[in-house]
Amino acid sequence: MTTIHSPETELARLDALPDQGFHAVTAVLDGDAETLVLYRDGDQVRAWLNVCPHAGRALDWAPGQFLKSREGHLVCAVHGASFELQGGVCVAGPCRGDSLRAVPVQVRDGRVLLG
Ligand code: FES
Repeated sequence: MTTIHSPETELARLDALPDQGFHAVTAVLDGDAETLVLYRDGDQVRAWLNVCPHAGRALDWAPGQFLKSREGHLVCAVHGASFELQGGVCVAGPCRGDSLRAVPVQVRDGRVLLG
């Protein structure tokens, strides 16, 4: 896992991320170190804080290891909340209707950048 300290710096190389898969990085946001979950969808990447809105726990079952359902949802390893991967909205489970907190990222020249 990599710690990123400032905006516009590289979180990951796009080609290092599995397509339709997840990757965890640590970034400093507003002065606090936060773990992010990156989701690659072809040439696009979306990112959210690795914090479940249900009970505030990390979504992964081990560092950087995330569950994906057959329906293509990110599943929280703690109590099974399922999040769709466009807006990070919980579509099933104990926090249905709540959302993951999105973190803005962009892909430029094959690099995934914060901001
Ligand atoms: S903490 Fe994620 S479903 Fe409860």
